[in-house]
Amino acid sequence: MSKTVDYKELGLVNSRDLFRKAVAGGYAIPAYNFNNLEQLQAIIIACAETRSPVIVQVSKGARNYANATMLRYMAMGAVEMAREMGVELPIVLHLDHGDSFELCKSCIDSGFSSVMIDGSHLSYAENVALTRRVVEYAHPRDVTVEGELGVLAGIEDEVVAEESTYTQPEEVQDFVEKTGVDSLAISIGTSHGAFKFKLKEGESAPPLRFDILAEIEKRIPGFPIVLHGASSVVPAYVELINQYGGQLDGAVGVSEDQLRRAAKSAVCKINIDSDGRLAMTAKVREFLTNNPAEFDPRKYLGAARSELVELIKHKNEAVLGSAQKA
Ligand code: G3H
Ligand code: 13P
Ligand code: ZN
Repeated sequence: MSKTVDYKELGLVNSRDLFRKAVAGGYAIPAYNFNNLEQLQAIIIACAETRSPVIVQVSKGARNYANATMLRYMAMGAVEMAREMGVELPIVLHLDHGDSFELCKSCIDSGFSSVMIDGSHLSYAENVALTRRVVEYAHPRDVTVEGELGVLAGIEDEVVAEESTYTQPEEVQDFVEKTGVDSLAISIGTSHGAFKFKLKEGESAPPLRFDILAEIEKRIPGFPIVLHGASSVVPAYVELINQYGGQLDGAVGVSEDQLRRAAKSAVCKINIDSDGRLAMTAKVREFLTNNPAEFDPRKYLGAARSELVELIKHKNEAVLGSAQKA
C-alpha cells in the first residue's frame, strides 16, 4: 500500500472552478485519457501552448498499466513541466469510469483531485447509493465527483455495454440532489471506441440527441454536464492506419460540428481517448513502414507524440473552445 497524498501537494486542482467558468463561458474543458509518458507529454505541451485548462484522466485499466505510484509522480511532473513552459496550467487528475467505492478511495488517497463513479449499469437506487458513498468520502477532501445516468454503448473499462440507453431527464434533478455530485455524465447518442455508428454506404452519422440535453438543462440549469465517447474518429487517421497495414473498416465518430454545439451548452467536460490512440497508431505505423531499419522507440513514439500535440491543439482551439482559458 502506497502512502496517502493530498492532490494539492502535487500542484493539481479539482474540477469545480474550471466547470463553473466553462459553463459561464460556453466552452468545454478537454478530458484526455493517458496511459504512458508520451501521451501525457503531448497533452501538457499542447495545453500549455494553447493555454487550455485540462483534465488528464486514467481508467482502471490505465492505472493498472502505469502503476498507481508512478502515476502520482507523472502528474507532479506534468504540473512542473507546464510551469517550466511558463504557464500556470490548471491540471485535474481524474479517475475515468471508477467502478467501485474502493477504487475511488484508493485514487483519492493517492493524489487524484477528481473521480468518476460510474454506477450507470446499476439500478437507479444502487447508483444513487454508491455515488453518494463516494461523494461522502471525496468532499471532505475537496475532491470533485462525476456520476453517470444513462448507459453508453461500447467498452467502459472491461464492462461491455451492447445497448445504450439515453439519460432520462426526469431522473437528473433527483440524482444530483440525492448524491451531491459535482458533474453528471449523460447518454445522448455517443458511445465509446472507434466504431460509434453502424452506417451504410453514403450514410452519415445521426445527430446527437440535443433535445434530451435541452430537457436535462431545463431541470438542472447551469449544472456541469459531461460528454463521454466524444472522439471524432478523425478519418485521416483511420485512412493512414488502413494504408499502412491496419484494419479499421467502418470506424466512425462524432462530428466536430456536433461537439462544438455541445461545448457551447452546459456540456463542460468532453472526453477524448480514441482519437489520441488513432493519431499515435497512425504515425507509428507510417513511421515504421517508411523507416524499416529504425528500432529506437524515441523515433517512432516521438513521431506519434508530435502528431498528438497537433491533434490536441486543434481540439482545444477549434472544437472545445478551451484555448486561452487557462
Ligand atoms: O471510456 C473508456 C476509456 O476510453 C478508457 O479505456 O479502459 O481501455 O483504458 P480503457
Ligand atoms: P472515446 O472512445 O470516444 O474517445 O471516449 C472516451 C471516453 O469517454 C473516456 O471516458
Ligand atoms: Zn467514458
